[in-house]
Amino acid sequence: MLDIERMPEHVAIIMDGNGRWAKKRGLPRLAGHNAGMKAMKKIADHSDKLGIKYLTVYAFSTENWKRSIAEVTGIFKLLVAYVESDLKELVTNNVKVNVLGDYSSLPEDAVRSLERTLRETKDNTGLVFNIALNYGGRDEITRAVQSIEEKISSGLLTADEITEKTISDELFTGSARADTPDPELIIRTSGELRLSNFLLWQGAYSELVFSDVLWPDFTPQEYEKAIADYQSRERRFGGR
Ligand code: IPE
Ligand code: IPE
Ligand code: MG
Repeated sequence: MLDIERMPEHVAIIMDGNGRWAKKRGLPRLAGHNAGMKAMKKIADHSDKLGIKYLTVYAFSTENWKRSIAEVTGIFKLLVAYVESDLKELVTNNVKVNVLGDYSSLPEDAVRSLERTLRETKDNTGLVFNIALNYGGRDEITRAVQSIEEKISSGLLTADEITEKTISDELFTGSARADTPDPELIIRTSGELRLSNFLLWQGAYSELVFSDVLWPDFTPQEYEKAIADYQSRERRFGGR
């Protein structure tokens, strides 16, 4: 049973296992990605119901460009279709969408429909839904360092003024962008036990929950199980 008083404010999910889900059924990998989009929508709806304030999903990494052109373009096509068909619903449901990652290098139609979504949901005050796209934790930290260096060069900042907050603020989740606190909980599906370059800075003290379920099979029930697991943990943050 979930303790509604102790819900995480921010849940982040590594949605993994679409390819294996398709393979098990003798389907092409893109069928797995399509099923994965549906699971993502259900989990976003359920997050809102549970009163979670921020949901971050890892949809495409800076390393996923290594896949075949057919798979990469297919993933972005699905994403555009998802965003287009759900935009109205996102707006009515008061969901605010952010993209974490440099999405300017995505196909033009994907950039256009993402920008429209960002624009039309920007004043919404409900669930903050962060989609990590062309996202890599190391890329994010590298960009933050570059941006801080520019501020130093232009005299806006000195090196000894740099704090952890200065760095946090410059990340895609930072105050000028998605303005999202560090996740209390990071979930990864499909039985893989690694972070794969996800939220390296923000996840410093996140609780990690690994589920063997492949992402397209990840139901609201599985989601609640992961949150219950989180709630059973004792978070010490280095204290006794
Ligand atoms: C996750 O599923 C989605 C993306 C990385 C885009 P995968 O495509 O990695 O699925 P598996 O790991 O091959 O099963
Ligand atoms: C991580 O999954 C990226 C996403 C879920 C978007 P991958 O399938 O790309 O990660 P690895 O290659 O197994 O580490
Ligand atoms: Mg994978």
